[in-house]
Amino acid sequence: MTQQQGRLIAIASGKGGVGKTWLAVTLAQAMSHAGRSVLLADGDVGLANVDVQLGLRPELDMVAVLAGRATLAEAVLHHAGGFDVLPGRSGSGSFGALSDAAMERLTALLAEARLHWDVVLLDLGAGVDPGTRRLAALADTLLVVTTPEPTALTDAYAVLKLHGRDRPDGDARIVVNQARDQPAGKRAAATLRRAAAQFLDRDIPLAAILRLDERVPEAISRQTPLLTRHPTSPAGEDVEALARRLTA
Ligand SMILES: Nc1ncnc2c1ncn2[C@@H]1O[C@H](COP(=O)(O)OP(=O)(O)OP(=O)(O)O)[C@@H](O)[C@H]1O
Ligand SMILES: [Mg+2]
Repeated sequence: MTQQQGRLIAIASGKGGVGKTWLAVTLAQAMSHAGRSVLLADGDVGLANVDVQLGLRPELDMVAVLAGRATLAEAVLHHAGGFDVLPGRSGSGSFGALSDAAMERLTALLAEARLHWDVVLLDLGAGVDPGTRRLAALADTLLVVTTPEPTALTDAYAVLKLHGRDRPDGDARIVVNQARDQPAGKRAAATLRRAAAQFLDRDIPLAAILRLDERVPEAISRQTPLLTRHPTSPAGEDVEALARRLTA
């Protein structure tokens, strides 16, 4: 158990399907390679994805912990990739439907997790429903994932706008995923950064450009983390570089 509070890093996006869950899984493994103890928590309770990408069939999950039917320690699974997982549950309704009391228990649960792990990575659902927004506001660092597509960029801007209201001095950073190459990723990031500077008066740093990589869907379809299936690949290297920067 660590003395200091662990760092809560949440992974958000406006548009769905941009690669949050894949990034959360890959970053969990990369940060564990960098020597950190990591809990990957599925914050997309209603449409849980983490267990699917990892091929887990959990008996207990976050919903059971929130209902008081299990402790955090009982619900956490260790993954062979070197990190721990707190699964969510599909079909349990969205966070937006969680009562205030349940939301408070979830907040307390994340605080408890931070006492036991160096890093708690929270994979959020897409969009800006009130529950997702509250969770994003709890994070020490919010990674806002977008692709270079205009629709994804517009929706990422909406996330940054609301996060700026909830946490005016919060640490939000941009991740451009599925970039054809570095210049395409940089152009997309510059567009988003310019909009944030101009209309939100916020300087949002670029955390990473992650390349489009055919090994990503291949690993996901095999329900195996990318860094296990392909220890070296363009997108994997990009996430490992991000992990090194985040843990430096
Ligand atoms: N770097 C990448 N290169 C190629 N394909 C990618 C990359 N990142 C993500 N993908 C593709 O995007 C799909 C969606 O990824 P993922 O499920 O992680 O997104 P998500 O943002 O968590 O989605 P949701 O909003 O539904 O939770 C993956 O199945 C994969 O095919
Ligand atoms: Mg997801």
